[in-house]
Amino acid sequence: MKLNWAERLIVNNPVRVMIQRRIVKWVGRTVAPDPAARVLEVGCGRGAGACLLLEKFQPAILHALDLDHRMIRQAMTYLNPEQKRRISLYVGDVFRLPYRDAVLDGVFGFGVLHHLPDWREGLREIARVLKPGGFYFLEEFYPQFYQNFLAKRLFLHPEHDRFYSHELRQALKDCGLSLQQRLEQKQLGILAVVVKDRGKGGKG
Ligand SMILES: C[S@@+](CC[C@H](N)C(=O)[O-])C[C@H]1O[C@@H](n2cnc3c(N)ncnc32)[C@H](O)[C@@H]1O
Repeated sequence: MKLNWAERLIVNNPVRVMIQRRIVKWVGRTVAPDPAARVLEVGCGRGAGACLLLEKFQPAILHALDLDHRMIRQAMTYLNPEQKRRISLYVGDVFRLPYRDAVLDGVFGFGVLHHLPDWREGLREIARVLKPGGFYFLEEFYPQFYQNFLAKRLFLHPEHDRFYSHELRQALKDCGLSLQQRLEQKQLGILAVVVKDRGKGGKG
């Protein structure tokens, strides 16, 4: 689900970049992608996260996609020429990732899963494209954070079949994704790094 004007204001500002910088530093304590790694960011918004990922991890291949063509247009103006050369930006849908099974070393998703109506299907698709041993980083919010009185009036999110910690962990497990590291506020949200089980090849 695309962002409305209010949430675009929240994510497209320097404070959000500062927060993402700290998050990327946190992820770097758990994962160290190989320089030859193929990495994807889903729901990249205006591209600030992808720039931080490039700076921190320098992967050989960094793709960043978003469902919203306006976000990708914004990203094209946010990135400097060197970043544009190193990051492939495109309009795309988490539910139909244009990759064969098990080809990516890492996937990043900052605040994306809770925007998906069928978030379990989104997870399955991410797990599908990850190599066994590949990682998925997620920053996610729980309903108390985005379905409270104020947030419901300001923002636009899917309302049904939402997840808290328990549902998320079960779905990760069902996709063959094992929790490696997490920072969680039970009612509000989670930062987590999960790794695809080495026994799993295709759909989770
Ligand atoms: C809360 S914003 C986060 C943006 C950026 N990652 C950040 O942290 O600043 C969620 C993003 O996910 C994108 N999105 C929502 N559904 C999507 C889908 N099915 N496929 C790809 N991107 C999607 C939205 O357009 C939006 O840019």
